[in-house]
Amino acid sequence: MNAVVSEIVEKDRRLSPLQVPPTVIEMLDASERASLVARIQRLLVEQDATLVAHYYTSPELQELAEATGGYVSDSLDMARFGTECKSRTLVVAGVRFMGETAKILNPEKRVLMPDLHAECSLDLGCPADEFAAFCDQHPDRTVVVYANTSAAVKARSDWVVTSGIALELVRHLAERGEKLIWAPDRHLGAYVQRETGVDMLLWSAACVVHEAFKADALKRLRAEHPDAKVLVHPESPLDVIAQADVVGSTTGLVEAVRKLPAKKFIVATDNGLFHKMQQVAPDKVFLEAPIAGKGATCVSCAHCPWMAMNGLRNLAQVLETGANEILIDETVRERAVQPIRRLLEFAKQRKRVVLGNNDA
Ligand code: 13P
Ligand code: SF4
Repeated sequence: MNAVVSEIVEKDRRLSPLQVPPTVIEMLDASERASLVARIQRLLVEQDATLVAHYYTSPELQELAEATGGYVSDSLDMARFGTECKSRTLVVAGVRFMGETAKILNPEKRVLMPDLHAECSLDLGCPADEFAAFCDQHPDRTVVVYANTSAAVKARSDWVVTSGIALELVRHLAERGEKLIWAPDRHLGAYVQRETGVDMLLWSAACVVHEAFKADALKRLRAEHPDAKVLVHPESPLDVIAQADVVGSTTGLVEAVRKLPAKKFIVATDNGLFHKMQQVAPDKVFLEAPIAGKGATCVSCAHCPWMAMNGLRNLAQVLETGANEILIDETVRERAVQPIRRLLEFAKQRKRVVLGNNDA
């Protein structure tokens, strides 16, 4: 193996709090909710459309997806479902890279999103032109990018990767003697680098939700609840990951809740995931891992502001009007689909679900 390099790219790509919108939760009274649900159910049938939602969206959207033959899952599994689903239209409730991935894999389908402003701080922290220039400076390195990137960044990569299979893929590439560029998540990259010892240059963006978890406060909470197991998404800082009993993708964390005998969990990920956790284990207790400055200064307050842009009102509207369609330049799409297919093939060869393992 090459001598290990763990280098953070010089420029810090983390967003400032001013670049992060406030988290606005859609408020509906019972009668408006019921009439929107009925309207959306009718429109999904009329439009031959299927709703695919991420675990971080609202309980209403998740329940509606499951009640109408749609799907709720993690980022890449949502896209995999899209490839298997027969509907002509996919409505993706999540953030934009998820809609783009669905379109990249399913160009013949119409892909709609409730709000095209639903960004992701990792995607925003990795502009395609600057990233391409960086890759050009290191032509000897294999380019591995996380699913949380734009179609154009994926098009510049050799591999797309997800948290559920990152360690396995990086070890595989290192066995072939490859040195890597890793983008965009500095924390996930540092975790993978530490676990594998592989030579990786790290881009320096971060998730505004997971970066806010605080190791000191987590230590205190663990002391108050010694019977709790700690579940951590690997977009969190290393000193938070170090305290985890399970590190995993969103599906991996849900599976841990389902399988572990523990009755209490401290969870370091977006609190949207608690709905699914509560569904799979109604008798168990879930505590939020502590975040920076809860109240006055927290930026995301453990709930992604962009995920919160998905609601029943804008979902009904896009189904009615056909607005917010995801369109991707065909040249970009043709390039971007290759590293995604490579990942799917790698996962298949290893007989692994792409996401959903709990050893990310
Ligand atoms: P998963 O792929 O684990 O669902 O993660 C997506 C994401 O955006 C986590 O913040
Ligand atoms: Fe991006 Fe973080 Fe939101 Fe996930 S939770 S979509 S990584 S900003």
